Amino acid sequence: MAELVRTGLSLDGKLLEQFDKVIARKGYQNRSEAVRDLIREYLISEEETENKTIAATLTIVYDHHRPNLTEELIRIQHDAHSQVLAATHVHLDHSNCLEVIIMKGKAASLKRMADQILSMRGVKNGKFVVTTTGKDLH
Ligand code: NI
Repeated sequence: MAELVRTGLSLDGKLLEQFDKVIARKGYQNRSEAVRDLIREYLISEEETENKTIAATLTIVYDHHRPNLTEELIRIQHDAHSQVLAATHVHLDHSNCLEVIIMKGKAASLKRMADQILSMRGVKNGKFVVTTTGKDLH
């Protein structure tokens, strides 16, 4: 195991109070554990994984009445068919759709596709989540 290092942080008191409330609700025994998890999550989603093969999901909510949006989302996914493993679509209400796209591929390439989709007009909300087994995927 790597050497344990202690560090200090300067934070807004209110921010820390909110943080403590949330992590207590989530069942964390202490702040260090929660901060460690956040740092790991950040590293997974950022520079560490750029050239690695990863699994990821992209969750989006969009308005299917927006002209060309549905067609464009389908076109992007077909263009990346070797990386898109599955997509699940739920009709949330009269005009909104929820879609979860499950992908596997090079991190940089999946991130690019996610950013392209998330920035489209009519995509109201979304989140790209990277996951890992802790080892390299192939
Ligand atoms: Ni729908």
